Amino acid sequence: MSKLFSPLAVKSVTFRNRIITSPMCMYMAEDGFTSDWHLVHYGSRAMGGAGAVMLEATAIRADGRIGVGDLGIWKDEHIEMLTKITSFIKSTGSVPAIQLAHAGRKGSTWTSGRESRPLMPDEENGWEVIAPSAIAFSPTMQTPREMTLEDIEELQQAFADAAARALKAGFEMVEIHSAHGYMINEFLSPIPNKRTDHYGGSIENRTRFLFEIIDKVKAVWPSELPIAVRISATDWMEDGWNIDDSVWLSKKLAGKGIDIVDVSSGGTVPNAKITVGSGYQLPFASKIKRELKNQLLVGTVGMITSAHQAETILTNGDADLIFIGRELLRNPYFPLDAAKQLRSEVPVPKPYELAF
Ligand SMILES: Cc1cc2nc3c(=O)[nH]c(=O)nc-3n(C[C@H](O)[C@H](O)[C@H](O)COP(=O)(O)O)c2cc1C
Repeated sequence: MSKLFSPLAVKSVTFRNRIITSPMCMYMAEDGFTSDWHLVHYGSRAMGGAGAVMLEATAIRADGRIGVGDLGIWKDEHIEMLTKITSFIKSTGSVPAIQLAHAGRKGSTWTSGRESRPLMPDEENGWEVIAPSAIAFSPTMQTPREMTLEDIEELQQAFADAAARALKAGFEMVEIHSAHGYMINEFLSPIPNKRTDHYGGSIENRTRFLFEIIDKVKAVWPSELPIAVRISATDWMEDGWNIDDSVWLSKKLAGKGIDIVDVSSGGTVPNAKITVGSGYQLPFASKIKRELKNQLLVGTVGMITSAHQAETILTNGDADLIFIGRELLRNPYFPLDAAKQLRSEVPVPKPYELAF
């Protein structure tokens, strides 16, 4: 049996293999609601054999959307259709997971595929964006309003309320989106966070916002179900958040009982010079895994496109879980193909058996 296809138990949940569908915004929702489109999209990846299917960045509040088509979990009415999706994912033997997100200063856009444009608050469908400091992401984007302490508390509570809805909807894992320059990452990084109160300045202060969210989420999320946190391991900027900060943070996350750190990078500033290539973010995951010495599970993501590449990452001890994004858009049956290549067992849907 390959490592990639050996099951992994995390608390009360067992992933049938180590492949997780990386969260990917589809921008196909209306007012945050999922539709049949999402059921088929996520359902296909579950039938395709992924160990867990993680729904895209799902807005914990309407003003937390990146674009108008983001999924939402800010009201109870969202739960019903999400439940259809989780039920289907479970029926295939996969684990339904959801990424909880707030876009911060990168919100209020119209986005679809490769196209994106900022929406100003006075435009139709636009809204005011908020962030730790009143610094725009780029010259064409809105300058956010600096959050008050009251805003901070309300937003943290919205993460917890969203987690409670996710539980009602049948999700078995939540991931707190603290990467890619969105709200939580804006607090972590010293570039967008210039606050002078106890949420800015030292790393202890900049991480406080995230740790308080974790405490609030844990108050509503059952202790036997896993929680993941996605981080940007580096801003790819001299004066930004870096891998040493991420090692420090991961140790604290382990101490807080977080089960998985999902290691991505970048997104905080538009001008970062990112060296992109096959497995380009793996060195960050690998460093965290080695320094953490199994205190929590480490996920890696970024241009992992073959069964053997994924298997080698695991057998070398560079990561515990493989998050796959675009390869699973190209081929939702990647896990079924990969299992065949690695001569491993994965439950092939009965009617597909003649094909695998
Ligand atoms: C269409 C698309 C949407 C994405 N949306 C999200 C998202 O909602 N949340 C997130 O954390 N990352 C998002 N990402 C990043 C992916 O999860 C993944 O980290 C990235 O694509 C690198 O992995 P890959 O090379 O396997 O695609 C998105 C990527 C793509 C291509």
